[in-house]
Amino acid sequence: MNKTILHCKDIIKTYGSGESKVFALRGVTLDVYERELLMIVGPSGCGKTTFVSVITALLPFDSGTCNVLGYDLATMNEDEKALFRGKLVGFVFQTFNLLPSLSAVENVALPLTIAGEKRSVAIQRAKAMLDKVNLSAKYHFIPAHLSGGEQQRVAIARALVHNPAFIVCDEPTSSLDHKSGQIVMELLRKMTKEEEKTMIVVTHDNRIYKYADRMAHMEDGKIIKIEEN
Ligand SMILES: Nc1ncnc2c1ncn2[C@@H]1O[C@H](COP(=O)(O)OP(=O)(O)OP(=O)(O)O)[C@@H](O)[C@H]1O
Ligand SMILES: [Mg+2]
Repeated sequence: MNKTILHCKDIIKTYGSGESKVFALRGVTLDVYERELLMIVGPSGCGKTTFVSVITALLPFDSGTCNVLGYDLATMNEDEKALFRGKLVGFVFQTFNLLPSLSAVENVALPLTIAGEKRSVAIQRAKAMLDKVNLSAKYHFIPAHLSGGEQQRVAIARALVHNPAFIVCDEPTSSLDHKSGQIVMELLRKMTKEEEKTMIVVTHDNRIYKYADRMAHMEDGKIIKIEEN
């Protein structure tokens, strides 16, 4: 069995208070291993996005324990959480979230320049990352001149350019046609295995289930079943 990257136990997360209190996570326990691609599936509102926000230190939680890559998220302050995310986590979203006025290579270089990297070095690393997602011919295209699948590949390059150990993708194929979705998933799977990442993919898209090593089924704030693929 590979090393445990994430270990969380009995996580409870609520939103709001009093009458309007919502129990989004009702005791989630999960281990995730190095070089695995874990999918999280379940009906709308069951807590998938909340869960991945908790394990990436974007959201605090009410109780339980969560240890990711040796960091105890419950005891970290905001600065430590920001550093943790900036160094160790990559995010891919349904809606790409690229900056429309920047070219592909500038979008991918941005996290590095924000982190203080020299522009020439950032651009060089961004180009190398775009090569890995098979976009060598599109360095200087702005997002509007790329297809949806190409935009998502730029977003993947941006998520991986700082070499994070842990990548979370929330509905990465929902805005894509079937073929682009398959290309994106093949890429995510290849990165997980070849670059020794750990990938969590939240999805509704049953056409991509085959790319998972394990599937965690969520319902009403809980993981109710884990299947091996
Ligand atoms: N900021 C918030 N304030 C209050 N309630 C929230 C907030 N975010 C989410 N919720 C509630 O928490 C529950 C879980 O939401 P979450 O977004 O995690 O679900 P999800 O499984 O990602 O759904 P979807 O598949 O539609 O994206 C839902 O009942 C939702 O209404
Ligand atoms: Mg969601």
